Amino acid sequence: MTDPQLILAERVQQALGTAFGQEYASEDPLIRPSQFADYQANVALSLAKRLRRAPREVAQAVADAMDHTDVAVEISGPGFLNMTLSDDWIAAQAVLQLADDRLGVPQAAPKSIVIDYSAPNAAKEMHVGHLRTTIVGDTLVRVHEHVGHDVTRQNHLGDWGTPFGMLIEHLIDLGESEALTRLASGDGNAFYQEARHKFDNDRTFEERSRSRVPLLQGGDPATLRLWREFIEYTKRYFNHVYDVLGVTLTDDHIAGESMYNTMLADVCDELEQAGVAEISEGALCVFPPGFTGRDDRPLPLIIRKSDGGYGYATTDLAAIRYRVRDLKADRILYVVGATQSLHFQMVFAAARMAGWLHDDVSAEHVQIGSVLGADGKMFKTRSGASTKLTELLDEAVSRAEAVIAERGYEPAARREIGRQVGIGAVKYADLSVSHDSEYVFDFDRMLALTGNTGPYLQYAVARIRSIFRRGELDPADFPGPIALGEPAERALALQLLGFGSIVETVAESSEPHRLCNYLFDLAQAFTSFFETCPVLKAEEPVRTSRLALSALTLRVLVQGLDLLGIEVPERM
Ligand code: ARG
Repeated sequence: MTDPQLILAERVQQALGTAFGQEYASEDPLIRPSQFADYQANVALSLAKRLRRAPREVAQAVADAMDHTDVAVEISGPGFLNMTLSDDWIAAQAVLQLADDRLGVPQAAPKSIVIDYSAPNAAKEMHVGHLRTTIVGDTLVRVHEHVGHDVTRQNHLGDWGTPFGMLIEHLIDLGESEALTRLASGDGNAFYQEARHKFDNDRTFEERSRSRVPLLQGGDPATLRLWREFIEYTKRYFNHVYDVLGVTLTDDHIAGESMYNTMLADVCDELEQAGVAEISEGALCVFPPGFTGRDDRPLPLIIRKSDGGYGYATTDLAAIRYRVRDLKADRILYVVGATQSLHFQMVFAAARMAGWLHDDVSAEHVQIGSVLGADGKMFKTRSGASTKLTELLDEAVSRAEAVIAERGYEPAARREIGRQVGIGAVKYADLSVSHDSEYVFDFDRMLALTGNTGPYLQYAVARIRSIFRRGELDPADFPGPIALGEPAERALALQLLGFGSIVETVAESSEPHRLCNYLFDLAQAFTSFFETCPVLKAEEPVRTSRLALSALTLRVLVQGLDLLGIEVPERM
């Protein structure tokens, strides 16, 4: 462990135990970066009431009991513990971090984490909203795996339901081969709209569609074959998008709505027998306490409609039961649009009533905010139809190529760098704002080489690599020693040491934007260092120390971007 925040937290906890008894040794010490010192601990303020003592007195007792090796502790204000680390200690920790494969990221006690993300609908086009759930979800997967958890990816594909009646009829009308080719190329939305149009305007088509539904649900072989083909070809398009994005989802992770089909009757029975669900106006419903609609009437979660049909809530209840019982989840993350918040609150409440979600399992909705167009409305192209994702990604890449065009790369290199920069920019834009806020999709902003953008960070990496290239040096040859003379060196080293706790925080809070902010601050700390501290031209031993700091910055940036799923070009 090299992260000062984690080390100081341990020391403050030890001091709390010594000063007030072991029951206080697991208290959160509330360590934060400080304006007046390196870090401050705010725990004295939160504990004072419980201990019936003045906060400053509590702070003093902690300071007296604390291990002061390499850290100066001062009490300030109403009872903050200000902590300043010695330069030698920071330098030594940086050398340790450089020697550590994990760069100071602690290994967690492994938990089983199920992450539900992406989940486009086979009956419709994959849209930018799914792009964001895909990108955020994939980052959470990478972070949890890196921290040491067992992650099960679940792509809860919308691949079942009554619309497939009309979609199958439309597929028959068009002819299988034409229909399937179109689906594989991402034409799903237009396909859906055509089917919908016929359904609304053509009585015989409507009737055919309606009678197709029970055939599908009843497992009629010919119908099932068409449905399977429909899904198969639509999946090819999804996989193509995943491939372009470089996300880790494959067919192995598909656990679509259809998978739960055979469990739905049993889910309803179990809920009814447990007295959790009841019949109301012919439908089987759960009324989770605390959810009310208009006129304060209890809000139902309908799990079997009065016509016997099952819906989205039923599938999600089956999924939760499966994830806890079969996948043995300790924690389930649902990376899904914020608009579905009420649905998940009610599903989680119902699953808790049924005992499927018990105290040892947490289910969390990682709410994803909408992506907006320049007009502040949901992102659409000018024609009004929502943009085909592949076209959007192609445009990002060609714009990125234009950005780097004047640097005179060979066409092949330019294409490759353009791909890395274009895709990286789109991903970073999704990740760098807090996941539940909306943001405006804007190519110019996300591709800018300055500011908190993907290209800026990729460029920072390329710049460090070019230092080593110019010196004809290999970063791996600089394990230290590190000595901190200039303030910019100290600030850079301290920022580097914070990598471990930021990765832990992202895993805990499901907030990738914190890692983005951290990497952005790191790149800026490196820039200040580079502007004030010559590296290649410095005299030894300063030169070796600065090269080691540069090598460490390079590795932390590359590792951090990798956790975000962002590739880094060798040059830029
Ligand atoms: N297919 C849904 C949609 O496009 C998202 C599914 C999310 N996952 C879940 N378990 N409900 O909105």
